[in-house]
Amino acid sequence: MKGLRDDVYRRPLATALERLGLGPGWRCVDVGAGGGDVAVALAEVVGREGRVYAVDSDPLARDVVAAAAAEFSQVLAITQAAEDLTLPEPVDLAFCRFLLLHVLDPVPVLARMAGAVRPGGWVVAQEPITSAGRVDGAPLSMPDARHPDIGALLPALVRDAGLEVVDAWAEAPAGAGPGPVADYLASLTEMDPGDDPIVLPPLVTVLGRRPLA
Ligand SMILES: C[S@@+](CC[C@H](N)C(=O)[O-])C[C@H]1O[C@@H](n2cnc3c(N)ncnc32)[C@H](O)[C@@H]1O
Repeated sequence: MKGLRDDVYRRPLATALERLGLGPGWRCVDVGAGGGDVAVALAEVVGREGRVYAVDSDPLARDVVAAAAAEFSQVLAITQAAEDLTLPEPVDLAFCRFLLLHVLDPVPVLARMAGAVRPGGWVVAQEPITSAGRVDGAPLSMPDARHPDIGALLPALVRDAGLEVVDAWAEAPAGAGPGPVADYLASLTEMDPGDDPIVLPPLVTVLGRRPLA
């Protein structure tokens, strides 16, 4: 599983980081860090002068992130619920991907992320519209997620958390036949798409900014 999501969803992540102008020395938090794909991607850009807090409520994630980010001393893994997000310092960027679809109430989590960044800092969320994904033309579903289509609401949720919405867009990996897109779908749903055409759930990215005053 490691690297797979990063592989197929690498492009939306790269687009977001480029649009932000993420650079050396930035302080960041990856909330709901999971296997640490995003935290490692952030660490590669911010370098040793920067810092990346990788926060996840699952204590097992801490070891997984620590292993994934072993070569990056700037990554600090913390076991904490997003709803209680508290960091030792204000950060320039609070990021989450595939997190808000799982939490009970997404707006307080976004508000907590907004509170973690310095005034003028960034909150970036990337969340799916699961039912807009297709296999052979049929919609995908994710019964285990609390809010599988939260991406469709994301710009308004970011605004409701008190942030300025600077930019928002959607991107979806697609393919047909064997390859990383089919492998990812199989890992997500345990279905074998065979040669069917696939559009994975589009990921909506919202770039929010904490007001200066
Ligand atoms: C689908 S994974 C996404 C991992 C990673 N963000 C990525 O995109 O590869 C969701 C992660 O969010 C974590 N999570 C779920 N609810 C959470 C909460 N309330 N607070 C913190 N982490 C949470 C889970 O433990 C899991 O590691």
